Amino acid sequence: MRRKLVAGNWKMHGGLARNRDLLQSLVQEAGKGGGSDCAVCVPFPYLAQAQEQLKDTAIAWGGQTLSEHAQGAYTGEVSAAMLVDFGCRYVIVGHSERRSLYGENNETVAAKFVAAVQGGLQPILCLGETLDQREDNVTEQVIAAQLDAVLQAADISGFANAVIAYEPVWAIGTGRTATPQQAQEVHAFIRQRMAGSDAALAQRLQILYGGSVKPQNAAELFGMADIDGGLIGGASLVAQDFLAICRAAG
Ligand code: PGA
Repeated sequence: MRRKLVAGNWKMHGGLARNRDLLQSLVQEAGKGGGSDCAVCVPFPYLAQAQEQLKDTAIAWGGQTLSEHAQGAYTGEVSAAMLVDFGCRYVIVGHSERRSLYGENNETVAAKFVAAVQGGLQPILCLGETLDQREDNVTEQVIAAQLDAVLQAADISGFANAVIAYEPVWAIGTGRTATPQQAQEVHAFIRQRMAGSDAALAQRLQILYGGSVKPQNAAELFGMADIDGGLIGGASLVAQDFLAICRAAG
């Protein structure tokens, strides 16, 4: 049985006072155990705050992106080692907003994935098709190309501690969730493709679903055979919603 993981993606939301309350609520409730893992990926300036409030709790934290470079003249960028300095366990790589708004292509995403692995972080690699691509029936080709670019750069061994998140672009922040069956189909496809490189690793690999996960739909999604938890945007900003989603993961 794969352990489930529920990871919050705060995106560019938050503030010191608001975060303090949110993190406090999470620690009070989610710290009580349960059979799943829980994490929050916060904006860079709040990593120290997350570390301060979450250290010695069951909740992990991480960044939302990182530089593909280890160090150097890259104004505005943040390296894997810097995230590790603040106790990060995870980093999101290749989120669709990074791909569509900040020009990250499959190759840059692959380079960032490699930087995360080399830096000792667990990347949460996001894959997903747009609505046009789904309607054109090329979902599997798109996912395969996104995945293969990373496999080529990082090798299957790079996935030993990685997490994959299937996030259909049309479901992110839209309130339109993939049906459990739609998500399961793509998750099974991803696992099968990974099994082509290493069957045992593919069986262990956590594949999260992301895209308008809410307390109301989480249990059904997480009940599917190949869905191992969720990457949660909007609902991760509301303590009661995020906690309910964590409980749905077991
Ligand atoms: P959402 O975002 O839950 O608000 O749809 C998910 C994500 O972008 O990771």
